[in-house]
Amino acid sequence: MKDFISMEVLPKQDILSYVKRANRLATKGYQSFQRQLFAANLFFEPSTRTKMSFVVAERKLGMEVLDFATDQSSVQKGESLYDTARTFESIGANLLVVRHPEENVANQLAASLSIPVINAGDGTGEHPTQSLLDLLTIYQEYGYFEGLKIVIAGDIKHSRVARSNAYALSKLGCDVFFTGMQKWQDDRLPFPTVSMDEAVEMCDVLMLLRIQHERHDNQYHFNSMSYLQQYGLTTEREAKMKDHAILLHPAPVNRGVEMDTSLVECDRSRIFKQMENGVAARMAVIQTLLDQGGQRNGKTINQRQ
Ligand code: CP
Repeated sequence: MKDFISMEVLPKQDILSYVKRANRLATKGYQSFQRQLFAANLFFEPSTRTKMSFVVAERKLGMEVLDFATDQSSVQKGESLYDTARTFESIGANLLVVRHPEENVANQLAASLSIPVINAGDGTGEHPTQSLLDLLTIYQEYGYFEGLKIVIAGDIKHSRVARSNAYALSKLGCDVFFTGMQKWQDDRLPFPTVSMDEAVEMCDVLMLLRIQHERHDNQYHFNSMSYLQQYGLTTEREAKMKDHAILLHPAPVNRGVEMDTSLVECDRSRIFKQMENGVAARMAVIQTLLDQGGQRNGKTINQRQ
């Protein structure tokens, strides 16, 4: 595939290849591209981890990173996303990374551009590179996926991380469950639900989600303390998890809401490992897309040595 847009459409074998390549990059080092290549990171929503780990991944691979900030660009003059992206393609970008509040935007751009497009999060759609770094973290822990019990907990309805991970993990043979408030379940995701008390006792991986307040339109009355007690990971619940079970969260964490603040760096937490793995995961995607011969102006981009 020219682009990296969605775990829903990515075949199982391709997902596994990405995980294994990311693991090699994380553990065995890497070689940078041997010709000048430009990356443009177009972020139309705030980001710390995804944007900065793309920058680190691109620079480790020897790419030039084109600086872009919406508030200092011609987006302020009304230029559309499409025209912005075509501009970067025209001036020589070899790769676009796009985060946008609207679902399906990266997919539409990918269909219009000849250079590879990577989806860095599209509204409540998908966040496939977050999923890849989550898969890498699970793979490093267990060495396999088949039969693992994974519980995804929290604001599922508004979470692109939940969607990408549910698609990817189920393809890889994991048993995927959801837990959380009934009104935050998503009809598009037909996975069984369990209570948080059931979840902590049965899971091999507990994947907590950030509550996406920015996507709620103020329609929910929300009390952080009662949410933690009813649906979050308290220290009492954490003590009931299996010895080997691990805890993931895409971050940023709402401390004291999705989980007790003391658990963010507890022994079973892999939250900062996930962030570390974000660099290797994004390098794996960039290498794969550019290695497979992305075309620009009739020239094959396939010069990595
Ligand atoms: N996990 C994640 O996407 O974090 P950022 O919003 O900081 O990129």
